[in-house]
Amino acid sequence: MSWRKNLKIFKGIKGKIKFQEPLKGRTTFKVGGPAKFFVEPKDLNDLKLLLNLIKRHKIPFFLIGRGSNILINDNGLNAIVIRLNASYFKRVSFENNLLNISSGVLLNNLVLSAKEHGLSGAEFLSGIPGTLGGALAMNAGVKGKNISDLVKDVTVMDYNGNTKVLDKKNIVFRYRQSSLSGYVILSARIGLAKMDKKQISSKINRYLKARKLSQDLSRPSAGCVFKNPNGRSAGRLIDLCGLKGAKVGGACVSGRHANFIVNLGNANSKDILRLMGLVKKRVRNRFSVNLEPEIKIWR
Ligand code: EPU
Repeated sequence: MSWRKNLKIFKGIKGKIKFQEPLKGRTTFKVGGPAKFFVEPKDLNDLKLLLNLIKRHKIPFFLIGRGSNILINDNGLNAIVIRLNASYFKRVSFENNLLNISSGVLLNNLVLSAKEHGLSGAEFLSGIPGTLGGALAMNAGVKGKNISDLVKDVTVMDYNGNTKVLDKKNIVFRYRQSSLSGYVILSARIGLAKMDKKQISSKINRYLKARKLSQDLSRPSAGCVFKNPNGRSAGRLIDLCGLKGAKVGGACVSGRHANFIVNLGNANSKDILRLMGLVKKRVRNRFSVNLEPEIKIWR
C-alpha cells in the first residue's frame, strides 16, 4: 500500500503524528493547503526513526519552524512536514559566555534567555518571527548582522540519521543562505558577551522599535519577499516602481514596506505568486534587476 494512506509506516514513533493537517495556520502568511502527514518527533531517536522511514519509502519531506519564510501551495503538500517542537528540541543551557540552544527555540526566547543571564550580542534577533533552526538554515539577520556572526558550532543530523557537530569553519554562510539547509539542525552554541541587563533591555527595545517603524506587522506576511540584490534594497526598487498597494486577489504590496506582501485576509498562494511575478517584471523592466525570492516556495 502507498505510504500516502498508510499510518503503519510510523510504527515506533512516539511523537505527534497528524494526517491531512492544515498548514495555513502554521505559517505567518496564513496561506496553504494541508500536509499529508505532520509529525513532531519526541526526541532524537524518534527523529532518526522518522528520517529512516522517509528514506526507506522515498517520501518527500519538509522541515517547518515558525512558518515565517514560506509560501505553501493551495493544494497542500503530498509529503511529511516535520516540526521540532517537542520539549527535547527546545532546550537552553549556558557554559560561561556560550549559549547552547536547541533548534526549536523561538528567536525571541533565545534573546530573552541570554538577557536573563546578562549576555549580550543576540539582541538584533529580537522580533524576527522564527526558530533558531530556521534562522540558521537561512542565515537570518538585520542590516550588517547575521546569526552566523554568533555561531561557534552547530549540531546536526544528516538525512541518514547520523548526528555530528559542525565547527563554524566547516559551514558556509552567505546572505540569507547556508550549507546547513541540507541537514536537520539540532542545536547550536553561540558566543555572547557579558553586559548589564538594563543595557541589554534597551538594545532589545531599540531593535523592536526600528522593526515596528519600518515594517508592516499589521497583517499576515512572510517578511521580506525578495532578497536585496547586490546590496541594493529590493523594497526601495519596488517602491520606486510605484507598486505599493498593488493587488492580486487578496495579496497586496504593503503600503509601509514595498518588499512585504501582505495577506488582506483571503489571499491564496496563486494570488501571492502572481503578485510576485508582477513585481519581478516591473523591477526588471525599470532597473534591469532580477529579484530573487527570499521566501521558500513549497509545492
Ligand atoms: N525603502 C523604501 N521603500 C520601501 C522600503 C524601504 O524606500 O518600501 C528604503 C528605506 O527607506 C531604506 C532602504 O530602502 O532607505 C532599506 O530599507 P530597510 O531599512 O527597511 O531594510 P531592507 O533592506 O528593506 C533588510 C532585511 C530585513 C531586515 C531589515 C532591517 C532583506 C531582504 N531584508 O530590509 O529582513 O529586517 O533589513 O535590518 O535582507 C527579512 O529578511 O524578511 C527581513 C524583513
